[in-house]
Amino acid sequence: MEQEKTEITICLGSSCFSRGNKNTLRIIDEFLKENQLKDRVHFRGNHCFGRCEAGPVLKINDRLLERVDGKAAVQALREHFEME
Ligand code: FES
Repeated sequence: MEQEKTEITICLGSSCFSRGNKNTLRIIDEFLKENQLKDRVHFRGNHCFGRCEAGPVLKINDRLLERVDGKAAVQALREHFEME
């Protein structure tokens, strides 16, 4: 049976994008490549989550991360994949 994939959804609405998700998107992509995790996730961008005031936001499955930056995103992914 295929292992269930992790859903990573990054907000690419204009507020989150301009406040950091542009950079976070690149950092997550590099992290997934470096750790051979690309096959284990669905990584996609989405329109505004309606949470701009808490942005930039990112979702890992049902977990919503607020005021996220690249470092926090990588930390959350490490925790999710139990890498430390
Ligand atoms: S632009 Fe990201 S929540 Fe609105």
